[in-house]
Amino acid sequence: MANAQPTLLYHIYTWGCQMNDAESAALARLLEAQGHARAGQPEQADLVVLNTCCVREKPEQKAYSLLGTMREWKAARPGMVIVVTGCLAQKEGERLVRRMPHVDLVLGPRQLYRLPELLAERNGSRRIEVALDEGQPLCAPAAAWQQGEAPGLCEGVTIIQGCTNYCSYCIVPYVRGPEVSRPVAEVEAEVRALAARGTRQVTLLGQNVLAYGKDTGEGDFAGLLERLHGVPGLRRLRFTTCHPRDVDERLAWAFAELPLVGAHLHLPIQHGEDEILRRMNRPYTVAEYERRLGLLRAGTPGLAVTTDLLVGFPGETEAQFAQMLETVRRLRFEGAFMFAYSPRPGTAAAGLPDQVPAPEKQRRLRELIALQNGITEQRHRERVGEVHEVLVTGPSESNPALLTGRTRTFHQVVFAGPESLAGELAQVRLQRARRWGFGGELLA
Ligand code: SAH
Ligand code: SF4
Ligand code: F3S
Repeated sequence: MANAQPTLLYHIYTWGCQMNDAESAALARLLEAQGHARAGQPEQADLVVLNTCCVREKPEQKAYSLLGTMREWKAARPGMVIVVTGCLAQKEGERLVRRMPHVDLVLGPRQLYRLPELLAERNGSRRIEVALDEGQPLCAPAAAWQQGEAPGLCEGVTIIQGCTNYCSYCIVPYVRGPEVSRPVAEVEAEVRALAARGTRQVTLLGQNVLAYGKDTGEGDFAGLLERLHGVPGLRRLRFTTCHPRDVDERLAWAFAELPLVGAHLHLPIQHGEDEILRRMNRPYTVAEYERRLGLLRAGTPGLAVTTDLLVGFPGETEAQFAQMLETVRRLRFEGAFMFAYSPRPGTAAAGLPDQVPAPEKQRRLRELIALQNGITEQRHRERVGEVHEVLVTGPSESNPALLTGRTRTFHQVVFAGPESLAGELAQVRLQRARRWGFGGELLA
């Protein structure tokens, strides 16, 4: 189709989770399919998109602070179109344009792919528009993955949006809406198109991918993995993130029977003390979490488990924090994302008494990080000498003379080898353990 729109130079800023990363990448491909091009410098762009996050206060402040700076950009280039999308856009809505009147468009996360159409309707005129989500599914247009810039070796594909778990500290259900699964056929078409254009690893994304299909009745998550397993060209099938409540025999079966699935699970436990878990509205105890992991470990020896940990939940006592450290010491996660609780107005926990003072939350976070880092390093040292299958992703960023890639356990390895291995599977012996991963040796 001929493109009546002028070519725009665009720039996209992204905060938040892998879902935002994947959706920004898809938007970039969609814009390029329509003839637009990446700007050399963000200040010189005609179109600047901020794909935002509000899970904690910090990413929210970063977006607002950048928007403040952009006032000057826009004064210098009045034709610049500023679009704010993602979770902060959905949370703030009209308030955003009242605080930042130089913003042109505020789009809910599920409106993202309507951007080209909205730009065409504006036809260069300045009009402030706010289009928020009202429960509709996000429909990624096929052009986003069939045309435009070639996809990378590793790409993310959103399979389920939203969350219906309402953990008491979390804002995601309020901004991303209830769980909505994308149709199996649409997900499969996207994965096939990516693999046909060179993608070797697809990461299936959602706030809880294990709930996939529950809302549509189109089978379950393990069934989706089985279906995608046959896609030609694909070498790895990963997924994130998972809620412990939905870990079951079907997932154990997928790990055990589907070789592309690998041997890594990111399973956020959040806390290590049962009373706090209960007040977080996480419907499991530490023992129950361990029982579910046991289901998977039985059929997948060597399964590597990483997690999310949240300290400083309202009312968390010193004893409860000590119990959390004890659990972390015992479960020995391969790695963890660790956060200090950030009150999110409108969530149940934000209104609780006994908020832990900020300096105390930071102290606990530092202690937790020191403990977990030590465990990660120790676990890595224990693996030295192991031989792993590595999906090679290309030259290492920190040392482009070396190659880098990930094992089936999702450990990063850097090693010497020919660049032609990019996109291939290689056998690598782990040699030097570091906190971030390993230095290794390519085997013939
Ligand atoms: N759906 C995922 C989590 C997505 S949010 C899950 O349930 O595991 C990513 C992480 O941000 C969470 O696991 C949690 O550890 C952290 N998080 C969520 N709300 C937070 C808050 N109010 N303050 C600090 N961290 C928070
Ligand atoms: Fe937030 Fe809980 Fe949903 Fe994860 S499962 S997104 S932590 S409400
Ligand atoms: Fe942030 Fe939204 Fe993801 S709040 S973590 S971008 S779902």
